[in-house]
Amino acid sequence: MGFPDVHQSYGRCRRAGHFIDRFYERFLASDPRVARAFEGTNFSQQKRALGQAIATAISYAEGESFVNSTMERMAEVHSRGGRVPVDPALYTPWLECMVETAREVDPRWEDGLEARWREALQPAVDLFVARY
Ligand code: HEM
Repeated sequence: MGFPDVHQSYGRCRRAGHFIDRFYERFLASDPRVARAFEGTNFSQQKRALGQAIATAISYAEGESFVNSTMERMAEVHSRGGRVPVDPALYTPWLECMVETAREVDPRWEDGLEARWREALQPAVDLFVARY
């Protein structure tokens, strides 16, 4: 399955310049557990890591097997025994904040993109939850 429209939407979001900042503003405000998890985080590094991870997650939904090992490594970091365990419940606000931020930042947003973004990120969320 291809998501060229979501890659393009995300590309517009990144070129707009403030996608990742706006995402973290939303995400940190969404749940006290999220804010707590990011206490002590070096955000300039974290923002670069997430910026890359989104494109990787979209490619994963497209069945691009070259990203599998990267995805497994990220899932491991967020697993129960990993460096940054993430309660599976927190993927719901994560996905909501992603879609809301794309809607706000993409200068050529169309309503049909909402369902497409969700479809494109769900496989990554499912993998992280399965590996928890
Ligand atoms: C599918 C969704 C997610 C993806 C793709 C993702 C991706 C990443 C990546 C690539 C890193 C950097 C890993 C490293 O430094 O080794 C990271 C770190 C982190 N993530 Fe996630 N993440 C996701 C969801 C979440 C959620 C829901 C939370 C909720 C609290 C979260 C909290 C964190 C924290 C606290 C760090 C560590 C920051 C630090 O090093 O101080 N992530 N994530």
